[in-house]
Amino acid sequence: MAKLNRRQFIALGIGGAGIAVAGNWLRQKTIYSQPVPQSSANPAPVYQSSDGLLELDLEARERLVDLGNRQASLLTYNGQSPAPRLEARSGDKVRLHFTNNLEQPTNIHYHGLHIPLTGNADNVFLEIEPGKKLTYEFQIPNNHPSGTFWYHPHLHGLVAEQLFGGLAGLFIVRGEDDEIPELKAAQEEFLVLQDFSINADGRRTNSAHMSLMMGREGEVIAVNGRLNPSIALAEGGLLRLRILNASPSRFYRLALEEHSFYQLATDGNSLSEPIEVNDLLLTPGQRADVLVRGDKESGKYRLLNLPYDRGSMGMMGGGMMGGRGMMGRDNRDEPMLLATINYESAVESMALPSRLNSISALPKPHTVRRFELNHGMSPAVGMAFLINGEPYRHDLIHTQVKLNTIEDWELINTGVMDHPFHIHGNAFQIISRNGQPEPLLAWRDTVLVKRGETVRIRIPFRDFAGKTVYHCHVLDHEDLGMMGNLMIEA
Ligand code: C2O
Ligand code: CU
Repeated sequence: MAKLNRRQFIALGIGGAGIAVAGNWLRQKTIYSQPVPQSSANPAPVYQSSDGLLELDLEARERLVDLGNRQASLLTYNGQSPAPRLEARSGDKVRLHFTNNLEQPTNIHYHGLHIPLTGNADNVFLEIEPGKKLTYEFQIPNNHPSGTFWYHPHLHGLVAEQLFGGLAGLFIVRGEDDEIPELKAAQEEFLVLQDFSINADGRRTNSAHMSLMMGREGEVIAVNGRLNPSIALAEGGLLRLRILNASPSRFYRLALEEHSFYQLATDGNSLSEPIEVNDLLLTPGQRADVLVRGDKESGKYRLLNLPYDRGSMGMMGGGMMGGRGMMGRDNRDEPMLLATINYESAVESMALPSRLNSISALPKPHTVRRFELNHGMSPAVGMAFLINGEPYRHDLIHTQVKLNTIEDWELINTGVMDHPFHIHGNAFQIISRNGQPEPLLAWRDTVLVKRGETVRIRIPFRDFAGKTVYHCHVLDHEDLGMMGNLMIEA
């Protein structure tokens, strides 16, 4: 008999822990999932599935939100920014009764989840008009990995603006990672990183056209909707941080004073073992799970955002300037304070896990394609962000692939700005960067392609046919054309 791996084992519910948890769910007899109140570092409520179902009402509307020392009028889901955290398990059904009370049309994308791309599931071609309702409904496959995913609006042309308003929330799939003893024992916290542009009376301010080309960044950085929240770390203990970059354009390069991060997962997928990193780069859309060890002298340590140069537009039109041009030169040479880690009473010293979940390399691809990323003049729209020389068009299929095949995509950045490239629905592995084999075997759904760089990724198109998209996750670039329609043919 073939041996089951850990993931299949748990998906089938034969794991002892799996049964205990399922038993707990059955005792809760509620029709809708109930929000669970959170710690002060994590004010947003959490909705957990019960009885195999996660069901709730979700309303998008503008609301005055308290960021700690100031108020801001933000775009929220259920009055919260970040939005309520949703938690389900593989095999669960999800039903979200969504109401759009914004002044614009919108929709919802479930970033990183491997679920149907059509119908009322992860379908970014739906358009929900102001005042209208739509019920999203899908099932998370039984073999879905556990990990950190998220949801946000995805109506082309309005994506950056609506995320910059605050619309984003975590979607956690619980499962095999959470059963690893060291992770179970660790204190778990979530960090949703957002930036906002807010004036003195708490109103969101508009971005100038040039900053849209650069990708808008706000001067206020909120972590879980708070300015500089404090996070407890038990002396000797482990803190598991699950971090999401929910900013439309800002890159975060995270460092914790005197501490390393032990990275457990890239985007929504576990690594095979923890890797030590001192600064953790997260482009828009990316997530990381890390462990922090409370093995330093008891005290307060700052979580910082270190400077990162993602390139900038030189002069528009003709005569591009390489590297740092005249735009985008702000105060990003200074580290910025994001949060404070506070040591608390000692626990018995905890070890790091030595193994996580195994990852297998993908077999050779059936097809190889090239995607050139740049900006330039387009006859139809003027200055635009382009893939293979073309801006996005609703009415074209830019790339057609076959279900159950594996492809290599060569992503070539010939421009002067970095572009994080995201594909909906299927995670991929990085094969090489600039021809150098990628040393770390990992799954991702968003990959940074630096200016001048060529990154080769390998994607298995599995389970779900239909039309979806790939794009730059600097969402102004996406809104300004750096997106393509992908048809996965059954
Ligand atoms: Cu996070 Cu196409 O999106
Ligand atoms: Cu871009």
